[in-house]
Amino acid sequence: MASVENDDGTVKYGIVGVGMMGREHLINLYHLRSQNVGVVAIADPHVPSQQLAVELAQSFGWHLEVFSGHRELLDSGLCDVVVVSSPNMTHYRILMDIISHPKPHHVLVEKPLCTTVADCKKVVDAARRRTDMLVQVGLEYRYMPPVAKLIEVVRGGAVGQVKMVAIREHRFPFLVKVDNWNRFNANTGGTLVEKCCHFFDLMKLFAGANPVRVMASGAIDVNHKDEVYDGKVPDIIDNAYVIVEFDNGSRGMLDLCMFAEGSKNEQEISVVGDIGKGEAFVPESLVRFGTRVAGRDGVQTLKAEDRRIKYDGLHHGSSYLEHLTFLSAVRAKGEKAPAVDLQDGLISVAIGVAAQLSIEKGQFVTIQEVMDEHYG
Ligand SMILES: NC(=O)c1ccc[n+]([C@@H]2O[C@H](COP(=O)([O-])OP(=O)(O)OC[C@H]3O[C@@H](n4cnc5c(N)ncnc54)[C@H](O)[C@@H]3O)[C@@H](O)[C@H]2O)c1
Repeated sequence: MASVENDDGTVKYGIVGVGMMGREHLINLYHLRSQNVGVVAIADPHVPSQQLAVELAQSFGWHLEVFSGHRELLDSGLCDVVVVSSPNMTHYRILMDIISHPKPHHVLVEKPLCTTVADCKKVVDAARRRTDMLVQVGLEYRYMPPVAKLIEVVRGGAVGQVKMVAIREHRFPFLVKVDNWNRFNANTGGTLVEKCCHFFDLMKLFAGANPVRVMASGAIDVNHKDEVYDGKVPDIIDNAYVIVEFDNGSRGMLDLCMFAEGSKNEQEISVVGDIGKGEAFVPESLVRFGTRVAGRDGVQTLKAEDRRIKYDGLHHGSSYLEHLTFLSAVRAKGEKAPAVDLQDGLISVAIGVAAQLSIEKGQFVTIQEVMDEHYG
């Protein structure tokens, strides 16, 4: 495993793609400065994004080397760790270039790992040969304090054997992004890959099993219908129901609505086992759990918080915690695997791809089917 610490003990980061999420990573790393980390370089072809990142870094007293492409950043040799936070459709090429670069770089890649299963599989295969690199995938919802608390409750056995995992995301429409890349399935992988890979990752975690088949219904019903880019109307769905069956007999259900600003919570998660039920609410940051025996009167409610969080960002501190765990794996020099690995990234995309395909076909789609190259 590559040693990442320089003579002065610092770990030097580069960020590829400094739009909304890349700048959240930059700010997180600033809040981790007492752990001897620094951002030294960025790569982004969009000058306004470069400028915003440079201004932010200047306000931290950090100097950034600015590149317009990731290859120059890699060739500069300046970085030990690269955060990939460019648009989804760029992840594959960038990851393959990092993995094949002579200098080892540890990588934190934003979700989704890639936009197709075929590309994810190629990355997983290529990375397997680089035993000197760590790759963590940015599925950080597991670190949101109420979600992390619910994971702890479920793993502690409070609900028994998990049978049903229901995740409701009711929120605002997709935000406007640089060059509107997120308006088209070809760039994002489709809504159920792009954003819902987070929820499929959580379902798999709660179920403690592997997905077998997926059934979904969804459409573009309300949002983006009056938008046109280069003569094309967006094709990304804005609502869906998705059922996922797991190989231990448990099942998950996603209820996604992206025209639901009138909601108290953005995510509501319910995990029911054979003896009890647990729930998490974001952003209320509440966790509830109870047992069948104790009934409604026995339901306990907790406020979830994590005092390690120094910066909340747009994700309730979860991307800060993601950096903390990734840094500890990087510093462990191969003794510790990344908390969210490439296989997690691949499976979360595969479930999303199966769900998108199920909507098209109007029938169940097996995970085996999408793992075949044919469906990409
Ligand atoms: N984990 C999460 O919760 C979360 C939240 C939001 C976005 N994301 C992910 O982060 C990534 C970026 O999303 P965003 O919201 O910041 O988008 P954005 O449009 O705000 O920023 C993307 C930036 O990448 C730049 N870029 C485009 N092509 C590039 C290339 N080849 N090399 C380097 N930079 C390039 C763009 O110029 C832009 O500045 C996406 O993969 C997205 O899915 C993750």
